[in-house]
This record gives sequence, structure tokens and C-alpha cells, in this order.
Amino acid sequence: MTPLITVKNLEVKAGKKNLLSLPHFEIQDGEILGIMGPNGAGKSTFIKALSLLEKPAQGAIFFKDQDITDDLSLKMRRKFAVAMQQPLLLDTTVFQNVSIGLKLRNLPRQEVKQKVAYWLEKFQIGHLAKKHAAHLSGGEAQRVNLARAMVLEPEVLFLDEPFSALDFPTKVQLLKDIKSIIGQTKTTTVFVSHDLMELRYLAGTLAILMDGELKQTGPTEEVLSFPNPSASAFVNEWKSILL
Ligand SMILES: Nc1ncnc2c1ncn2[C@@H]1O[C@H](COP(=O)(O)OP(=O)(O)O)[C@@H](O)[C@H]1O
Ligand SMILES: [Mg+2]
Repeated sequence: MTPLITVKNLEVKAGKKNLLSLPHFEIQDGEILGIMGPNGAGKSTFIKALSLLEKPAQGAIFFKDQDITDDLSLKMRRKFAVAMQQPLLLDTTVFQNVSIGLKLRNLPRQEVKQKVAYWLEKFQIGHLAKKHAAHLSGGEAQRVNLARAMVLEPEVLFLDEPFSALDFPTKVQLLKDIKSIIGQTKTTTVFVSHDLMELRYLAGTLAILMDGELKQTGPTEEVLSFPNPSASAFVNEWKSILL
């Protein structure tokens, strides 16, 4: 089967510095792919490049069979939704925050209302619909952020450390909810984290990114059990406190 996303000879640079180098990489339809790596490894660069937010210096990105590397059309960008660590909510109500993407797509009002209500309930924030975004807790704000991404019914959901700023109990509850939601919708998900606990829980496939290169990719438990030499120091440090 054709992968949902195929990356070929991708290079992202800042000046002469190579931020990311991916000779070949595939993401399958329905896969939940975890990207793990230390600070500065290039994880956010990876998310930005694959979601077409950052233009690569070289190489190509395919969606199914279509080369989308230079496709900045709304039609293509709308296949992807991105949620980052800092929710960056608009200075208005929760409802408005989640509905804005659909309004920009000119959906009929009634449909917007229905979809937003549905996703607020899914993320258990229906009771916050009229609340101002500035008055939310960190966990609530991240739920709004994720609802805002999922309401767009993306083909691929990109998550860049969405749980990193949350306290442990808040994180655990949200991890459970997002896992159940992604499981139901079967949304292809690219999930970046530096936290092995989160990745083991969510990701079926794990890729280890270090110094802008993928050192190892495979089923999560396999990568953790048999990290190859270039990834092992980093993986084993995590395993030593978690497993
Ligand atoms: N626009 C940029 N210009 C120069 N260096 C950058 C730029 N963006 C990121 N970097 C550098 O690239 C590396 C990878 O960054 P990033 O993708 O944010 O890493 P991560 O998300 O894994 O912490 C870091 O060393 C960072 O300082
Ligand atoms: Mg980052």
C-alpha cells in the first residue's frame, strides 16, 4: 500500500547548518508515530517540515502519490493540523477558538455549531464553551488547542510536545483522552516528545531523532528493547528510570 506520507532526501538548513536530514522516511495511514529525541535534536523542525510550515532546502514530501513539497495551497495545508506545546489561543471564548478554522472554511453556521459542540464534549470541555481563553488552566487550554485541531478532521495530526508543560495528573488524564480519541477516529498522528512515558503509551511506532537524523525507527517496544548503537545511550538513560 502507498504510504500516506513519503519523505525523500529531505534537508532543512539554517544558513549552512543542517537542522534535519531525512534520506527516506514513510508514514503509514492510521499510524501513530512517536518522534523522540533530546532538546535541539530537530523534532520541531521535523514537525514544521512535514506539515509544510517550513520549506525544506532540498528534497520532496509526498502525500500518497502527490508531490506536495511546494504546494502551499490551502487545500493541501488543510489536510494537516498542528498542536504545539504552547496553545496560543485567541483572545476570545473557548467556543470561538475552536470554531475559527471552520468559519474560515465557510462552513454553514449550524454545522460549525454542531461540530464544535461535538469536539468540546469529546475533550470534556463542553462546560467551558463560553469561558474566555485567558481564564483557562494549562490543561484546559491544551484541551481547547487539541479540540481546535481535531475539529478540522485532519488527515494527519501533528503534535509537538503538547503535554510537556502540564503537571503529571493533568498530563495522564489528557493522554488517556487523546489516545481514545485518536483510536476512534483512526487519525494518522505524528507525536513529538522527549518523554518516553508519553511515547510508550501513545505511539505504535517510535523513531529516535538525534542531531537532525533518524537513528532508528520501528515498533515502539522493539526500539526500546533493541536500541541500535547510535540511539542506545539516549534510550537507555530513559529506560533506566522508567522500565
Ligand atoms: N531558524 C533557525 N535558525 C537557526 N537554528 C535553528 C533554527 N531553528 C532551529 N534551529 C536549531 O536547530 C536545532 C533543532 O531545533 P528544534 O527542531 O527546535 O529541536 P527540538 O524541537 O528537538 O528541541 C537546534 O539546535 C536549534 O537551535
Ligand atoms: Mg521542539
